Amino acid sequence: MKNIFPQNTLVSRKDRTKIKNHESCVLWFTGFSGSGKSTIANRVEERLNKEYEIHTYLLDGDNIRSGLNTDLGFSESDRVENIRRIGEVCKLFYDAGLIVLTAFISPFVADRNFVRSSLPENSFIEIFVDCPLEVCEKRDPKGLYSKVRKGEIKEFTGIDSPYQAPLSPEVIINSATLSIEECSDQVIKYLVNTHKLGK
Ligand code: ADX
Repeated sequence: MKNIFPQNTLVSRKDRTKIKNHESCVLWFTGFSGSGKSTIANRVEERLNKEYEIHTYLLDGDNIRSGLNTDLGFSESDRVENIRRIGEVCKLFYDAGLIVLTAFISPFVADRNFVRSSLPENSFIEIFVDCPLEVCEKRDPKGLYSKVRKGEIKEFTGIDSPYQAPLSPEVIINSATLSIEECSDQVIKYLVNTHKLGK
């Protein structure tokens, strides 16, 4: 980075989290389209807000792709860039002292590990929303799998674009068999047990 001089700020992440009375961290949900990432992340965020008064922010694939990443498609290189940018946004929200939740397919191990390695240890919490592709296809909440089968969408994750499951995620959620409430319980329990919720 030629001629660029990063500035230190007088107010640090620690100063910000002290006011909030809770830790900041990143809850990174990954899994197939239709696995339940957004729904579970939404419910976890709602519970953190209402039950624990935690300052949160949810970054969701479809929303970010309609704004910040509107220029990106679904080729391998665009997906890499998608996650790289989300990782940068996560770092900013983390630094701001929030619990940030992300719901992106994020199909590649290397990209998720890159985000993990750019944050301090124990602050990147990978949550694998583990749902068999057949179940996601049966649910088809957005009608996308049916379009894929008609040949109207190409490079769809799990069909003709790869998905690499996490190797050692902090949390594995079997969303095919559990209710939304049970899924959100798993994440909240992890946060309580690892003392992220303060007070
Ligand atoms: S990622 O692979 O780059 O992480 P991201 O989570 O941002 O994907 O976006 C996935 C969402 O985009 C899906 O939930 C779905 O609604 C939509 N989508 C549209 N086309 C595709 C495609 N070819 N593969 C996967 N998702 C797609």
